[in-house]
Amino acid sequence: MNLIIIGPPGSGKGTQGKLIAERCRILQISTGDILREAVRNGSALGLKAKASMDRGDLVPDEVVIGIIEEWLMQGNYGKGFLLDGFPRTVAQAHALERMLDRRGWAIDHVISIEIEREELIRRLMGRRTCGRCGAMYHALFNPPKKDGICDQCGGSLYQREDDKEETIRSRFDVYSQQTGPVIQYYASKGLVRAINGVGPIDDIFNRILEVMEGREAYAKRGSHPS
Ligand code: AP5
Ligand code: MG
Repeated sequence: MNLIIIGPPGSGKGTQGKLIAERCRILQISTGDILREAVRNGSALGLKAKASMDRGDLVPDEVVIGIIEEWLMQGNYGKGFLLDGFPRTVAQAHALERMLDRRGWAIDHVISIEIEREELIRRLMGRRTCGRCGAMYHALFNPPKKDGICDQCGGSLYQREDDKEETIRSRFDVYSQQTGPVIQYYASKGLVRAINGVGPIDDIFNRILEVMEGREAYAKRGSHPS
């Protein structure tokens, strides 16, 4: 199964993407995580991306399209892949379609997480990430057992550079202007599954599974599940 998870900053793409990838045994590809790692390593990719990321702007299309092309060529996806944070512009969506067409592949579902801004700001301001294994926490909603330390690997937790209030606001603007049209693009192909992103993490995960499984059953049986 090949999936896209799309939604505004802080909507839970990373959190839900990890759960879906584990459940469906597919590979999660997060362009944000790949870019942040490149910035940490000081690689050529990181140098190209850092200024845009710090401002809350998008990294140029050709850079992220190149990242996805490289991942698709590596080939270790198990039963498919989940794209988290890509595509974010219509030009990226077109490029993805060309890459998949060349391989005879297609996207099965675009999971679109819907949620209000105030909740997103609360989530982003409290987010903490493990510098070693990438596990994600929230200072209030999902705290680690020991302050500042990852439950899973004992690594130190850090706050993302772009999770400052001013940068968060420009990320929201960029999302509405440039990523909103991507949702329209996939809606016109009948691929968008809108998910209410408010509530406990497990509830949202169950909503996603229900919508995906409902569609699968529909596709197999040729009639809508009752
Ligand atoms: P990216 O890393 O993709 O950031 P984003 O889209 O802003 O989304 P986030 O990762 O901030 O949030 P999320 O939706 O993953 O939420 P999360 O699960 O962490 O991109 C960063 C930057 O990279 C971009 O600004 C751009 O510069 C560049 N970039 C990346 N891709 C690009 C592309 N394709 N083109 C161009 N540039 C690109 O959850 C957030 C917090 O909430 C966590 O603390 C979590 O624990 C908590 N939480 C999650 N769910 C719940 C819940 N149900 N209840 C309470 N708390 C919750
Ligand atoms: Mg994320």
